Amino acid sequence: MSNPQLTKLDAAHFDSKAREWDDNPVFVERGLKIAEAIRKAVPLHRHMNALDYGCGTGLLSFPLKDELGAILLADSSEGMLAVVAEKIAAQHAPNMTPMKLDLMADALPAQRFDLIYTSMTLHHVPDTDAILRIFHGLLNPGGTLCIADLDKEDGSFHGPEVDVHHGFDRADLSRRAARAGFNDMHFQTVFGIAKEHATGTRDYPVFLMTARRVGG
Ligand SMILES: C[S@@+](CC[C@H](N)C(=O)[O-])C[C@H]1O[C@@H](n2cnc3c(N)ncnc32)[C@H](O)[C@@H]1O
Repeated sequence: MSNPQLTKLDAAHFDSKAREWDDNPVFVERGLKIAEAIRKAVPLHRHMNALDYGCGTGLLSFPLKDELGAILLADSSEGMLAVVAEKIAAQHAPNMTPMKLDLMADALPAQRFDLIYTSMTLHHVPDTDAILRIFHGLLNPGGTLCIADLDKEDGSFHGPEVDVHHGFDRADLSRRAARAGFNDMHFQTVFGIAKEHATGTRDYPVFLMTARRVGG
């Protein structure tokens, strides 16, 4: 990342995608599959305070909303958050709150969370170590981090001109999480995204990493 010749997918990019985001059945199914995997991996309850970081239109949070307490849906895109706000009103979900927040640039929220989950957002954040340290600091002791993202790929997922991480090597991400203070890292494959290329169809696996913040 950080090559000036490459295109950044910034908040304006996601603003322009927000209205049509939920029309993509792959995005909807991905959210449902990741939610199912989180539900199986983490004992959820109505007193859990959760943060969905890079929430987009909330495709991961809406399936989990009746199993959690307060959910803060954070994103740097106003367009995504406008869609989230409409969905919260339409679905009468008073435990969900949208918030414009870029943890790499804005002041950190004062509240702490029992659960932080993030879907397909980590590859957009340039400094993986920094965001892992911030997630660790925002979790209550005993809290859980769930990261769903692409396995390491060759850059063909977004195309070579786009400035994002090309997925993540599981062992490397696990080491980075340990350095940030996390324990008990577990990985599983939760989804596959098929993309057509000139050379044929490629499948891009999506992993879920769970990790715990132990102690104070
Ligand atoms: C690929 S979308 C995924 C959206 C949603 N989590 C999903 O799975 O459908 C990535 C999201 O991360 C948001 N994002 C990217 N960088 C961010 C940052 N630094 N802080 C907060 N949100 C960010 C984008 O605005 C976008 O909504």
